[in-house]
Amino acid sequence: MAANADVCVDPDRLFGRHLAVLGNTGSGKSCSVAGLIQWSIAAAKEASSDSEIAPNARFIVLDPNGEYSKVFQESGRVFKVGDTTNPLQVPLWFWNSAEWCSFTQASARAQVPLLKRALRSMRNEEFELTEEVSIRVKRFLSSILISVKHELSLGSPWGSFPRPKNFYEKVCKWLDSVESLKAMLEANDDRLDALTNSLSTYRDNRSGQYPTYESDINEVSGIANQISSAFVSFGGTEQDLLPKSEDIPTRFTGEVFVNYLEALAQETGNEQYVEFLLARIRTMLADTRMKDIIGDDVDVSLGDWLGNYIGEDGATNGCVTIIDLSLVPADIIHVVTAVIARMTFEALQRYRKLNEKSLPTVLVMEEAHTFVKRHKEDAENQSASSVCCQMFEKISREGRKFGLGLVLSSQRPSELSPTVLSQCNSFLLHRVSNDRDQELIHRLVPDNLRGLLRELPSLPSQQAILLGWASELPIMVRMNDLADHERPQSDDPDFWDVWSRTKDRALDWPKIAEDWQQIAQDDDQGADDGQE
Ligand SMILES: Nc1ncnc2c1ncn2[C@@H]1O[C@H](COP(=O)(O)OP(=O)(O)OP(=O)(O)O)[C@@H](O)[C@H]1O
Ligand SMILES: [Mg+2]
Repeated sequence: MAANADVCVDPDRLFGRHLAVLGNTGSGKSCSVAGLIQWSIAAAKEASSDSEIAPNARFIVLDPNGEYSKVFQESGRVFKVGDTTNPLQVPLWFWNSAEWCSFTQASARAQVPLLKRALRSMRNEEFELTEEVSIRVKRFLSSILISVKHELSLGSPWGSFPRPKNFYEKVCKWLDSVESLKAMLEANDDRLDALTNSLSTYRDNRSGQYPTYESDINEVSGIANQISSAFVSFGGTEQDLLPKSEDIPTRFTGEVFVNYLEALAQETGNEQYVEFLLARIRTMLADTRMKDIIGDDVDVSLGDWLGNYIGEDGATNGCVTIIDLSLVPADIIHVVTAVIARMTFEALQRYRKLNEKSLPTVLVMEEAHTFVKRHKEDAENQSASSVCCQMFEKISREGRKFGLGLVLSSQRPSELSPTVLSQCNSFLLHRVSNDRDQELIHRLVPDNLRGLLRELPSLPSQQAILLGWASELPIMVRMNDLADHERPQSDDPDFWDVWSRTKDRALDWPKIAEDWQQIAQDDDQGADDGQE
């Protein structure tokens, strides 16, 4: 209606409360997203007092098709699997317990508690699979102390029928373990003597008979006291007993983790439940493609990682991070995406906590229908794709407060999580022809404006309707032209020119096959033998 008026949009509005870019394949979504990023950065540069310095902007693009690397090769950082300078790295110690559970497909009843316990031990700073006996003793004592205290807090270890026997058996096991640990200590070390005595007294008194409630509660409290003083004599503190969160990203290696998990399962008599789980982790650790991303040789500190992926102070290392997910194995792509999104979110949360201001950051998710997929709420089975979706739901609900804006680009709005879609306040609608998708979009728009949407199925690429918070009156816009090098690598295929041999397409399958197999195989050939 306004003919060729220029359309300008307030970036605070466009990015501040999440933007959804929707449209069919080839309708121009990726170009629009790439354009919005470039134009925003250019405008910010112009507006800043010193136009020599790059703006303090942060865009993180999760790019499942590897389309954006070409555009931002120079101005941004591109992280790619197997890249020599900027390999994509998402170490496994970043993963929180939900992500671990989804990856290992741990079952809620038998496996999740074990997995969480193993993770908690890993997060404990002094944890190593140490040979040092006193540390092992201390750790063992802390675990049985927690266990006894738990029994006591339940009111009684003998409250209902099978309990006395269970508790009795536990004590016998503990006694065996304490004795074998004691044998490893120096001969004159008597720090475990009192405990061994009281455990064996309990075992002898109890074999075959049920003591009275009174005598038993005293006896068990006595044992708890003995464990506690032995624990203190090995340097244990109250702090060690507090449950550590299993979600703090402190460093550990996958090797140590599986071994510990296996040992823990044996100790608790759960070997048969964790076989599959262990196998899955071991497969991941052995797979070269995954190892590069999550593996133990990945040597990166949390601080450096945040600087690389979210950007240094003042965004001196560039305003754009492209995370090329195209070569991430399907097994872990959802977990990797969820971890990156969560790390970004939590880092910004912590930034605000320490600085009382938010750090404006835009997280772009291409092909959002695969990662932010409508899923069934089901507490029992947490698949990787629903964990990933839940992360984006959380960002869409809470991200604004921490300066994190989402840009979602998708071909199938009807497959997107309704929670995320309902939190998007601005929409850039490209051509949409599918009925169900149109219907969904119609519901997003007030009745009196629906007329405009009649254009939707016939919009040419590069044109779109902008509506929502960024544009209180919906407008039809034509996105600025992007030069060839500014466009994501997703050109429409030129069938006719190739068919008619106007354009050349040389083909060498063996070379492709070699490249394909080499990525899957060991990379001992080195990456520098000529192929991209
Ligand atoms: N702003 C623009 N400037 C120049 N060309 C554009 C622009 N927008 C779209 N195009 C043209 O449209 C084509 C398809 O656009 P684009 O790759 O962004 O589609 P898409 O919606 O992301 O598709 P898909 O869903 O398959 O990823 C581009 O190759 C380009 O030729
Ligand atoms: Mg695209």
